Amino acid sequence: MLCKNIGRDTQGNLTFAGQSVAALAEQYGTPLYLMDEDRIRENCRLYLSVMREAFGEGSYPLYASKAACFKRIYTVLREEGMAADFVSLGEIHTAVAAGFPMEKTCFHGNNKTDEEIAYAMDHGVGCFIVDSAWELDAVEKAAEKRGAVQDILLRLTPGIDPHTYEAIATGKVDSKFGTAIETGQAMPLVQAALGRKHVRLLGYHCHVGSQVFDEDGTVYHDAADIMLRFAKDVQRELGFTASVLNLGGGYGVRYVGSDPPVDIAANLRKLASHIRAVCQSLDFPMPQVRLEPGRSIVADAGMTLYRVGTVKQITGYKNYVSIDGGMTDNPRYALYGAKYTVLHAARTDADFRCDLVGRCCESGDVIQPDILLPKPQRGDVIAVCTTGAYNYSMASNYNRVPRPPIVMLHGGTSEIAVRRETPDDLIALDQ
Ligand code: LLP
Repeated sequence: MLCKNIGRDTQGNLTFAGQSVAALAEQYGTPLYLMDEDRIRENCRLYLSVMREAFGEGSYPLYASKAACFKRIYTVLREEGMAADFVSLGEIHTAVAAGFPMEKTCFHGNNKTDEEIAYAMDHGVGCFIVDSAWELDAVEKAAEKRGAVQDILLRLTPGIDPHTYEAIATGKVDSKFGTAIETGQAMPLVQAALGRKHVRLLGYHCHVGSQVFDEDGTVYHDAADIMLRFAKDVQRELGFTASVLNLGGGYGVRYVGSDPPVDIAANLRKLASHIRAVCQSLDFPMPQVRLEPGRSIVADAGMTLYRVGTVKQITGYKNYVSIDGGMTDNPRYALYGAKYTVLHAARTDADFRCDLVGRCCESGDVIQPDILLPKPQRGDVIAVCTTGAYNYSMASNYNRVPRPPIVMLHGGTSEIAVRRETPDDLIALDQ
């Protein structure tokens, strides 16, 4: 199995986090997002303990809220002592509503609006990741108005290709995010930040991309090299020594059996000793290191359950299995051609080749093409694995389809964390 929280009981019935998925589908209805809370906690603990041990005091992971954002997750994160990052007022508002501590949080984005900047400052977001010179001015102005000094990092692009989907590679020079080191534009931005009275520059941030496997460790090592060399150049030219280096998120997870397993602990330890060695050779003090894992905290804690509605066999061509959800709850195949493992909840035979498709009015509404399943009956429960990241957070109401609920599984119990949308929710904003 892809992850130890997926199993089969003695009759071959699928279990997730030790619970029968058929029983959960019966109790809560479908489509249904399941979240294994114990797995989220385990993933948090791994990052927290290894980062503390390998990078030293002051180094810690921040959960990237964009992967899955709803109130209950911030309770879990708070209990585990995790920090978090945000990219919008909506994400900050969700964390605030859950009573999440704000000191160690940070605020991202290539175009934070004035309203968002004000909201983040007024709610005590610890650090702004400033994307550009324009934004530096906006943050300075907002902090000045409050008589405050805002901690910031500058987001820089190291010019690295992490070999992932084009749409989620973000560290290249021509990215819409951050300010490029290679073009010589980063140095004047640092100088500008150092000259402002209402921001305090702590260091630099970069994010190379997402779903990065980095099996030989080169992507993050290269990013760290470039960032540290730049930090040294700044020290020489401007006399400023960065104390924080945030290398973003991005570690990949296994969606299908052929994806390589990622040993995050080993990768982090290697990265830490690499950074130490580079700092030594540059004669630069070891910075506090921050990482922003999203997917690797929640992806394998998620599973989506559907029920089969129809099976269509086009003689001589192909077969379709239609389920009661689709691109509205999981747009990742439609957007990226993302791979998923699909399982029948009650049967392990698999000789029916088909496309698993949703119910939206477009042909691109595919969850996964060309898979093998047992030929299902109407009403059978189908599970799509590893859906904890970028599924609920990217869900839409296209075709006015209500979004599924999120049920948290914890120590053999289950609890609704986000209730199912109703048809009335869909018209709640209509005047
Ligand atoms: N930090 C920054 C600045 C980011 O832009 C991202 C992701 C992360 C951290 C978290 O990366 P992770 O550890 O989750 O890979 N919707 C796409 C993923 C977009 C990721 C965008 N940024 C998907 O479904 O694959």
